[in-house]
Amino acid sequence: MSAQDDDKRLAAEASSIMVQDGMLVGLGTGSTVAYLLTAIAARRVTATYVCTSPRTQAIATGLGLDVRPFDGITRLDVAIDGADQVDPDFWLVKGGGAAHTREKLIAAAADRFVVIVDSSKLVDAIRAPIPLELMAFGLSSTLERLGDTELRDVPPSPDGGVIADYRGAVDDPALLAARLSSTPGVVEHGLFGPHLVSGVIVGRDGQATWLQRRSAQSG
Ligand code: A5P
Repeated sequence: MSAQDDDKRLAAEASSIMVQDGMLVGLGTGSTVAYLLTAIAARRVTATYVCTSPRTQAIATGLGLDVRPFDGITRLDVAIDGADQVDPDFWLVKGGGAAHTREKLIAAAADRFVVIVDSSKLVDAIRAPIPLELMAFGLSSTLERLGDTELRDVPPSPDGGVIADYRGAVDDPALLAARLSSTPGVVEHGLFGPHLVSGVIVGRDGQATWLQRRSAQSG
């Protein structure tokens, strides 16, 4: 296992202790979450899970976890997911695996949303690409309005959305998030604001630690 994979595993294992008997838990998507699924299964916790992607659902079900559809559920105790970028204020970029729309819905429903990353995901400032999910209807017109956006050569999302990446400048993630959210045809974007994030666990140099948010440090 590479040092990076080991750091992903350490962050995932540290987060797994948040999953307790009786909880309703949201499971993210990606290689870091794959370590989380193994860690949860090994702990034999009696919890119930909702998944952000068919991939995660297949792995979780295969490990014997009690997976339910995200249907008739209004809130989750905790959701745990990876990220592609984490900035010092806890702005995230997600969606490298094209699951960002479902990931954001599950993060938003969770009392606590915990992010697990290796240190390669920590950035000084958020930069492109920013994953997008777009409506197929009127796609050319949406791309024209967005500008600087490339379609990604991957299958549609499980909800039929077209996956693309915004490759323009990211001067201010909050302004870009507002612009993307208000662009007709954009189903969802991969910028997750700090208001969604309860905490970040980073695996670094063979240890897992909770990251301090910059704005929290400065009071
Ligand atoms: C999936 O769409 C993404 O948001 C992932 O959570 C993100 O890409 C992190 O994935 P890894 O854990 O594989 O780096």
